[in-house]
Amino acid sequence: MRTKLVAGNWKMNGRLHDNAALLTSLQLTATKLKWGCQVTVCVPCPYLTQARAILSGSPVMWGGQDVSEHGDGAYTGEVSAGMLTDLHCTHVLVGHSERRALFGESDQGVAAKFAAALGAGLVPILCVGETLAEREAGITGEVVTRQLDAVLARSGVAALAKAVVAYEPVWAIGTGKTASPQQAQEVHALIRARVARDDAAVAGGLRILYGGSVKAANAAELFAMPDIDGGLIGGASLVAAEFIAICAAAA
Ligand code: PGA
Repeated sequence: MRTKLVAGNWKMNGRLHDNAALLTSLQLTATKLKWGCQVTVCVPCPYLTQARAILSGSPVMWGGQDVSEHGDGAYTGEVSAGMLTDLHCTHVLVGHSERRALFGESDQGVAAKFAAALGAGLVPILCVGETLAEREAGITGEVVTRQLDAVLARSGVAALAKAVVAYEPVWAIGTGKTASPQQAQEVHALIRARVARDDAAVAGGLRILYGGSVKAANAAELFAMPDIDGGLIGGASLVAAEFIAICAAAA
């Protein structure tokens, strides 16, 4: 049995005042309801201290949205994995499609970040997914496999026992267009099968999240699919009631 995971991705959003209300409501609800799923919020680095202050002692975890492939040192503007663990982060997103598309992150660069996160004891949430053009060209499987293979080549299949994969079709992110549960399930099954080729036990335990316009209204049907083990939630993670309802759907 894989425990479901719901991860919020605030992206570059938030201010102290609004965060406090959102985090407090999450902390209070999670503490009271004791969901049977895990919940983490990936917040912008300036707010990790605030997340830690409010969420400490609650079942809700927190993490970063990106991490440097380098250790501490002369890398102006970067944030190391060690800094994230210093702030008691448990998770970090790596290879989000916005990082790949807007900041030129390559499969190899993402694999290096994944390795750095793992090396520091963080759980990397490896994001993979195809663009609309790639889906229409019928190469979704190839793209997702290539993204996954870069990590397998660098860190080996055993590393995936300590990681999470998030399948996020780029065409469904922030667009309001969700993949249908069947469309998502098909790719999740493909990802699990690819990992199973290297190690069936790791594949069986691997949590594969779906991301892309998940909201309270569609979460339950997505989470009911056999290979969907939770969600990576962007826009809806900024609205307490929506995010809490999604957590409840996973629980
Ligand atoms: P969305 O974003 O839920 O706003 O579509 C998901 C993500 O980018 O992780």
